Amino acid sequence: MLVRVCLLNQRKEQKMNMLIIYDSTFGNTAQLARAMADRLGEHGTVRIALADEASLSEMKEIDLLIVGGPTQRHGLSPAMRDLLERLPRRTLRGAGAAAFDTRYHMAAWKSGSAAHRIASRLKRIGASRLVEPESFFVVEREGPLEEGELERAARWAEEVFVKFEASRSVQQDKAEVR
Ligand SMILES: Cc1cc2nc3c(=O)[nH]c(=O)nc-3n(C[C@H](O)[C@H](O)[C@H](O)COP(=O)(O)O)c2cc1C
Repeated sequence: MLVRVCLLNQRKEQKMNMLIIYDSTFGNTAQLARAMADRLGEHGTVRIALADEASLSEMKEIDLLIVGGPTQRHGLSPAMRDLLERLPRRTLRGAGAAAFDTRYHMAAWKSGSAAHRIASRLKRIGASRLVEPESFFVVEREGPLEEGELERAARWAEEVFVKFEASRSVQQDKAEVR
């Protein structure tokens, strides 16, 4: 029993590195990234970086990574594409990740979805997918976001965190059994 309590305490004390990387042409995705960072900040330190400023060294040692960008021409914005293409394989090995985008509110096959592209690239460079890619909706090209999207983004970030904690517990249990 005592051993179990000690292990639980150790888990709580483990420092966690959380990073949100985003791109944003008109500021809508940036607002969502900040809402997510505020919520995740209740659980630890969160860094937030623009896609064209994020460095490779920043991504090493990351436990939880959220990447989001606007859907443009059915896919990624140029800055997000550049970032994802310059990350070598295995960069995110061992990290949990989640992807989101902003786009028009219609079927994803019509609008395209940057989040799906981001998620498959994150997987290829070694991250494990914590939740399905998520979309948040803008009213028009330059925004604003639809009503309630900032709150939904905060809830989504919380869900990502809960999934991350659950996956970390499973990994630690496995490690302790070995
Ligand atoms: C060049 C360009 C192409 C776009 N193409 C699409 C598209 O294919 N599908 C879509 O849903 N939205 C498209 N949009 C709208 C963007 O999704 C919208 O501008 C974005 O979500 C706003 O987020 P931001 O303020 O973070 O840039 C496009 C916007 C731009 C500027």
